Amino acid sequence: MCGIVGYIGYRNAANVCMEGLLRLEYRGYDSFGIAAVSPEITLFKETGKISAAKDAVNLKGTCGIGHTRWATHGVPSKTNAHPFTDCTGKIAVVHNGIIENYAELKRELQNRGHTFVSETDTEVIPHLIEEQYAGNLREAVSKILPLLEGAYAILVIAEGTQEIVAARMGSPLALGIGDNEYVFASDGLPILDYTRSVVYLEDGDLAEVTPAGYRIYHDGEEIVRKVSTLEWDAADVRKGGFAHYMLKEMFEQPEVFSNTVNSIAENPSPLCRLRDARSVTIVACGTSANASNVFAYLMETVCEIPTRVVLASEFKYYPTPKNDVVIAVSQSGETADTIYALKIAREKGAKTFCLTNVLGSSLTRVSETTLYTRAGPEVSVAATKSFTAQVAAFMEIVNIISGGKLEGAVVEIQRYLPEVLDCDVDKAVELVKDASTLLYVGRGLSYPIALEGALKMKEISYIHAEGYAAGELKHGPFALLSEKTPVVAVCLSGITYPVMMSNLKEIKARSAPEVVIGEIRDIDAEEIADVYLPIPKVSETAGVILASVVLQMLAYKTAVALDTDVDMPRNLAKSVTVE
Ligand code: G6P
Repeated sequence: MCGIVGYIGYRNAANVCMEGLLRLEYRGYDSFGIAAVSPEITLFKETGKISAAKDAVNLKGTCGIGHTRWATHGVPSKTNAHPFTDCTGKIAVVHNGIIENYAELKRELQNRGHTFVSETDTEVIPHLIEEQYAGNLREAVSKILPLLEGAYAILVIAEGTQEIVAARMGSPLALGIGDNEYVFASDGLPILDYTRSVVYLEDGDLAEVTPAGYRIYHDGEEIVRKVSTLEWDAADVRKGGFAHYMLKEMFEQPEVFSNTVNSIAENPSPLCRLRDARSVTIVACGTSANASNVFAYLMETVCEIPTRVVLASEFKYYPTPKNDVVIAVSQSGETADTIYALKIAREKGAKTFCLTNVLGSSLTRVSETTLYTRAGPEVSVAATKSFTAQVAAFMEIVNIISGGKLEGAVVEIQRYLPEVLDCDVDKAVELVKDASTLLYVGRGLSYPIALEGALKMKEISYIHAEGYAAGELKHGPFALLSEKTPVVAVCLSGITYPVMMSNLKEIKARSAPEVVIGEIRDIDAEEIADVYLPIPKVSETAGVILASVVLQMLAYKTAVALDTDVDMPRNLAKSVTVE
């Protein structure tokens, strides 16, 4: 969703901001804008792709701010794009988050003579600052912050000054500290090109940055925040010769899987709490929820610990069981629903953990204990390697709790992941690419994999795809089956195999073409399938993870065949920072 950058130093600020916005593109946006001081404030705003407008930006100055907007209040348009200025054009603001009481503030400001140009909530901020500004920008910003209800990370600049004032409440904001230069950003990626030293602002912090240095204030007092080191490399956020980030990230999965397993194995102490848990609740959204369902299945079947997954956006409507362990799972660590769910759980006395891929992300501040996946930066909106990393962490957690029961499966996945990435899905792509509806089915551990396969497909190919527990087909979805409704099935050996085979026959009897992922040399399954996608013969637990990679490849190649915007699908955002 919205991303912000700011630069102050000795380079052209607009250029740095444009590069930074390109790094934040993956979060999802529909318009963008930049403001720079030299000494007046000049603006550039545009809708559509940043790369298309790169050469059109010609703003002077070494102090500037930028923003990618994902429309919430008001349509995507140049007028609604940030930065916003006050009536005089002397103050410019970019904002990530939502000002919930903006309508009331706007009415009051209009009554006091302010005129507004946009439909956004953000525009009230520069007008409020204008009323307080008498030469000291930090003072003016600190006076208006108590008036804002909701969530924000803001950057503010003013005509004739060389400073950026920043404030954070509920939306992420990091400050990169370089040599005589500073870079603000919603996450570490735009900062990596300039420095690895970073300060993560906390809620309630206000920062004042000039070319000479930075100061952070909290409750009016100057404070010192820890300087962390960004672990990722600038090279990690480039495509490295792949056609899309998604493909590059899929090919990183063997390494990501091993790195994550090893890092959990090396630091098993936080897991002791799970061993004694009476029950475990996981809160997550999207792909993270699907990975969590794999965990729930393994916790129940291998460790015999009752474990449920509640979609983070629904969690607030459920009672939190007393003494429960609640684990929030989020690649970005910035998903608003997940953060909110964990906050509620903690308030209600649950023991809280989180599993995230981003060091210092907002979720880690809410959680008592944090575990990290080691996926490295994931740029493609469709999550692939972060899913595999979450599964890796979960498998190793279950392995430790169960005294080594998943050891074999972990080794099998490590051994066969590279081979599975070479799978040939072309015939399956031909079979599914012109369909308007696809059903994905599995049972037991393959069920969450079917859900994830369907999610990948709909996200990037725009084909309607739904995941079902195969046994549920006859309770409704059968009505959809015809020769025009392909079914993608995961059918691996294990307790679900015989009944899955019956399901495949039932589907066939209703004329639906079938793409079946099964084990190599399973002649029976191969005979039923219209297209058979074989994976190596391994344990069921390893098999479903290998199958999930085949489903990623099927979604990817289908999207490429349909010529969609694979890495940045329409209407989606990588990091969903509103509830
Ligand atoms: C967005 C992304 C999905 C992701 C979900 C949860 O919808 O587009 O790919 O699975 O958010 O994100 P999280 O960062 O919390 O795992």
